Amino acid sequence: MDRATLVNRRWLMAARPDGNVKPSDFTLDAAPLPPLADGAILVATDYLSVSPVMRHYMLRAAAGEPALEVGQVMRGRGVGTVVDSRHPGFAPGDIVHGPLGWQTHAVLAPTPKTLLFKVRQRVAPISTAIGVLGMTGYSAWFGFHDIGRPKAGETVVVSGAAGGVGSVVGPLAKIAGCRVIGIAGGPEKCRLLTERLRYDAAIDYRNEDVDARLAEVCPGGIDIYFDNVGGRILDTCLGRIARKGRVVMCGRISEYLDGPLPGLANYHLVGSRNARMEGFFVYDYADRFAEAEARMAASVASGELPYVEDRLDGFERMPEALAGLYDGTNLGKRIVAVSERAMAGA
Ligand SMILES: NC(=O)c1ccc[n+]([C@@H]2O[C@H](COP(=O)([O-])OP(=O)(O)OC[C@H]3O[C@@H](n4cnc5c(N)ncnc54)[C@H](OP(=O)(O)O)[C@@H]3O)[C@@H](O)[C@H]2O)c1
Repeated sequence: MDRATLVNRRWLMAARPDGNVKPSDFTLDAAPLPPLADGAILVATDYLSVSPVMRHYMLRAAAGEPALEVGQVMRGRGVGTVVDSRHPGFAPGDIVHGPLGWQTHAVLAPTPKTLLFKVRQRVAPISTAIGVLGMTGYSAWFGFHDIGRPKAGETVVVSGAAGGVGSVVGPLAKIAGCRVIGIAGGPEKCRLLTERLRYDAAIDYRNEDVDARLAEVCPGGIDIYFDNVGGRILDTCLGRIARKGRVVMCGRISEYLDGPLPGLANYHLVGSRNARMEGFFVYDYADRFAEAEARMAASVASGELPYVEDRLDGFERMPEALAGLYDGTNLGKRIVAVSERAMAGA
């Protein structure tokens, strides 16, 4: 490998966002790569993930990480190919997913705490290592199974259902023998839910009365509400929670730009219906990722777990890709193809 010809393109944080992220919050630069120290590897990025938590990283400490400072490389996970290694556990050609950051090349010194993993399951394209078979899928898996504790025959409602995590929860609920209803914005997303993602019914929260539709499609109440959005939709679903229902608090994207609602009018039903609300943080399950990956890879291979990727091509599109999550422009898990082989769909 000729290091002299390698230039690392990087997206740096240029400003803390005010409202949604915008192009001027980021700067694209190019920098030489540092020499590889003992124990380090050089990874060429194939795909990068975007996730709502990234705006938090730009503002404050979040998800166990300190706040980013202006001038730092944007934080984020990706999947890439090891091109040079001075680490005994990695060899050129290995495919890995981990904290690559928004850059075309990453130098990392993996330790057990780095959350860098080799991609072993090859039942699907490597992009799935940042989607259904990566943190997005693991969030769906552990949130649904460990916090939701589904039983066959139960009714599950998922908000943000056509996004990354939500698009995985629906099929997982069907595999568990549940009935599953998705809430998403717009008719195209609702069609995606019922036609491709195994949802039994879909509610378009932008154009329909969510409470009236829940009454219609969940006459016995909601046994598990998997919440990706918080705010008003959370409150509406709490109003329909079944006795002994479970609310999986995965995320609150509707509150990320506007702040929390002043109060949840229906929270008292959690008490009177002996229900439970519980949050979780996917990284806390790191010692069980392999289990989730193996189980979901088998379901992807069998066709029981369909997945939908929303791919933008080109490293220069990272800011646009992230901003779109808050505008709801993504259908399924949003990823950005960075390398030429990724843009060719490898
Ligand atoms: N607990 C954990 O460890 C963990 C791990 C990963 C992710 N998360 C959380 O899980 C959630 C989903 O993450 P993701 O990466 O899969 O993102 P995503 O769902 O792919 O993208 C965000 C989606 O949120 C919806 N949305 C945006 N603003 C909204 C609003 N005001 N009201 C209702 N929906 C809105 C949009 O869909 P519509 O067009 O349908 O509005 C958009 O497509 C996020 O809240 C994230 O923070 C938590």
